[in-house]
Amino acid sequence: MWWSIALLLGLATAPALAAQSQCRLVLSPATVRPSPPAPSVNSHGPHNPTPVSTSTPTPTPFVPFAYGSVPIRGVNLGGWFVLEPWITPSIFINTNNDAIVDEFTFGQMQNYQAALDVLVQHWNTWLTEEDFIAIAAAGLTHVRIPVGYWSVPSNISVSPHIPGAWPYIQRAVTWARAHGLHTIIDLHGAPGSQNGYDNSGQRTSSPQWALDPANVNATLAIIEVLASQLGPMVDAIELLNEVAGFLGSAWDSAVRDYWTRGYEVVRQAAGDNVVVVVGDAFEGVDNWQGFFPNAESNRVMMDYHEYQIFSDPELARTEDQHIQFVCQSTLPTLATFASNNMWTVSGEWSTSITDCALWLNGRGVGARWDGSIGGGGTVFGSCDGFTGNWSTFSQDYMTYMRKYWEVQVELGEAIQGWIYWTWKTESADEWSYQKGIEGGWIPQDPSQRLYPGLCNG
Ligand SMILES: *[C@@H]1O[C@H](CO)[C@@H](O)[C@H](O)[C@H]1NC(C)=O
Ligand SMILES: *[C@@H]1O[C@H](CO)[C@@H](O)[C@H](O)[C@H]1NC(C)=O
Ligand SMILES: *[C@@H]1O[C@H](CO)[C@@H](O)[C@H](O)[C@H]1NC(C)=O
Repeated sequence: MWWSIALLLGLATAPALAAQSQCRLVLSPATVRPSPPAPSVNSHGPHNPTPVSTSTPTPTPFVPFAYGSVPIRGVNLGGWFVLEPWITPSIFINTNNDAIVDEFTFGQMQNYQAALDVLVQHWNTWLTEEDFIAIAAAGLTHVRIPVGYWSVPSNISVSPHIPGAWPYIQRAVTWARAHGLHTIIDLHGAPGSQNGYDNSGQRTSSPQWALDPANVNATLAIIEVLASQLGPMVDAIELLNEVAGFLGSAWDSAVRDYWTRGYEVVRQAAGDNVVVVVGDAFEGVDNWQGFFPNAESNRVMMDYHEYQIFSDPELARTEDQHIQFVCQSTLPTLATFASNNMWTVSGEWSTSITDCALWLNGRGVGARWDGSIGGGGTVFGSCDGFTGNWSTFSQDYMTYMRKYWEVQVELGEAIQGWIYWTWKTESADEWSYQKGIEGGWIPQDPSQRLYPGLCNG
């Protein structure tokens, strides 16, 4: 069905091009990329549980993205191929087991087949081709797709993670392509966990990724597969999301070594065009000055994340101070870094000004905002009206979120672009791009401004 919709859309919008591509004529290799590979399955995993059609809609001509001159305007497809309890609490509640706090324990503490069935249902339904159509209709150019290492075919042992998402990942990339969206494929979870957060797949106070060179080598093997299998279909490969560089010098040196080797792996496996995306490892971009010589011609991009909600001092900022922080701190820092070093994207941010979303800090963990996290920090107020269904949001709150959205877009467009976190959530509307459009705090046309020049005032 998805492919007939794609074809209809193609025919409706560009009949001549669709007709050309059906005949597979005229299109040069530079603009048409090959069909995705047939589904394959992690050799330690089960056979592909449900056949997924990866037959490609006849590709429409695909124009390479002009990084550096056209801003990236994107959304993250969070909570799809890496479960996060706060994005889909129902999946975790339905386990009836409070100890299941991430995708790792989801596989570890349940009957394998039962857990797999839930995952397959989720892969099939959390986002569908309709979402890609809506993302394109929202004027966005990019999707960033987080994936876990356990979903990528390799001979690396992934237990207790449950593999099987690969054909769905291939289909997602195909959908993006079919609707004119550019893709950043983002390795979001690495062997041993690169940060201990549930969004790495494994919530742990003792992440191991950097501490065992075998993990780093295994991650490079995963990147090799991503680059060789998906390279022809995607615009960029992000080597690893949010490495915890703050955990000490072993982490800092491991991530430096990994960026260098990962860059070479992508170049060997996918050629020179795919953009290689790295992160600042929470060290601040200034710690990465000069790290990649000639970064722009080598097509390397820095992905910087900004949330102002994960500490008391950040939560203490007034609404105006959140905006000032973007204008006076983040924007000049990133703009200077970008012009002296490498393309830089604001790759994760949101309109949320609290940590109130249920389980945002982890399943069973409360919020700093209302003190439910415990530990004696500042209590800022009630979470009522800050999260959940936007029908409970005040007009003032939504007006502020519009401003906060606009200033962060202003930041992104002062560098090479922005990618909002995240397209969809089950019940935290303040984080949902989709609900933002519905509620009007995010415009359907991302170039629209109600508050132009927030940073110039
Ligand atoms: C599997 O492991 C072997 C030995 O560790 C290695 O030589 C080989 O390249 C691996 N294959 C893949 C597809 O990663
Ligand atoms: C990791 O890979 C490097 C380079 O190929 C190799 O020298 C090293 O022995 C490997 N380490 C482990 C633990 O596999
Ligand atoms: C949010 O509230 C509206 C209005 O009360 C309701 O129609 C809608 O179903 C609610 N959405 C969710 C996800 O509960």
